[in-house]
Amino acid sequence: MQKVLVVSYSQTGQLNNIVNSIVSPLQNSKVVEIVYETLEPDPPFPFPWNAEQFFQTFPESVKAIPCQLKPFRFNKEENYDLVIIAYQTWYLSPSIPYHAFFQSDEAKELLKNKPIITIIGCRNMWVMAQEKVRKYISEAGGRLIGNIVLRDKAPNLLSVISIVRWLFKNKKERYLKIIPPAGVSDKDIKDAERFGLPILNSLLTGNYDDLQNHLLKLNAIELFPSLMMIEKTGTRLFGIWANWVLKKGNYGDKRRNFRLKVFMYYLFAVIYLISPIGTLVFYLTYPLRIKKIKQNKEYYSNCP
Ligand SMILES: Cc1cc2nc3c(=O)[nH]c(=O)nc-3n(C[C@H](O)[C@H](O)[C@H](O)COP(=O)(O)O)c2cc1C
Repeated sequence: MQKVLVVSYSQTGQLNNIVNSIVSPLQNSKVVEIVYETLEPDPPFPFPWNAEQFFQTFPESVKAIPCQLKPFRFNKEENYDLVIIAYQTWYLSPSIPYHAFFQSDEAKELLKNKPIITIIGCRNMWVMAQEKVRKYISEAGGRLIGNIVLRDKAPNLLSVISIVRWLFKNKKERYLKIIPPAGVSDKDIKDAERFGLPILNSLLTGNYDDLQNHLLKLNAIELFPSLMMIEKTGTRLFGIWANWVLKKGNYGDKRRNFRLKVFMYYLFAVIYLISPIGTLVFYLTYPLRIKKIKQNKEYYSNCP
């Protein structure tokens, strides 16, 4: 029997559905035992959110400030053959529960010398978060051997509206005819089953060298140069904003609310005014950037 540990946390259940679909071929093989570790923030983050709660998580997400987690249940003595870490992005970073997970002594011990696959379920921005996760994994001495990304395929400006409805009102369905349903589509979640087979093959042969190439052939990752550009710039600026807010106190401190409100207005201005102009300029200068874009695509598609 091969033993696989799956680490996950999902507020809406979406990420759990993605994980279940991907690991179903492993589950059905009868030669793999899957152990699930669900991260449990203590106290839990609210869902659905209100605006104050939602923006309170901004500085901690960006600055990698962990929350409290309930004790892990996985067996620390067990030598897992593979660890799968499924996570979502918050503010272009791994969500706060994963900062807590990766920074814990137990996770550092667990990940040492282990093959690790990351699965991301997000709206559409994950590249910069994965950079932070890569760093966590490499610092723990783990080996990232695969990455699969599922995202909301609706146009960027529409999925902002649908995700706000989803996260603030728990309403996911199509809205006013033009706003598509929020989140990763049911079809994409169902089809993610296809990633399970190459994972199973690698697990059974113990050879992970080519796994990411197999996953890429199955479209495990799609990269969009304009989104990568927005993410790179956004991450730099988010760091400055987060430091400014943190000067007013720690997570939950009401004294931060004014600065968080200013940030909220800034964020919507960036999304609806600045980033469309930035994207236009980006495509007008595209020919000058082709080499760099190719390098970035190569780098962000692959595992180290
Ligand atoms: C506080 C917060 C910030 C988020 N920021 C991003 C983001 O920067 N990029 C993105 O693609 N999705 C973002 N999302 C969406 C999540 O990645 C995720 O897809 C969604 O919250 C579904 O939740 P679940 O995975 O917990 O079920 C954010 C969600 C929350 C709650």
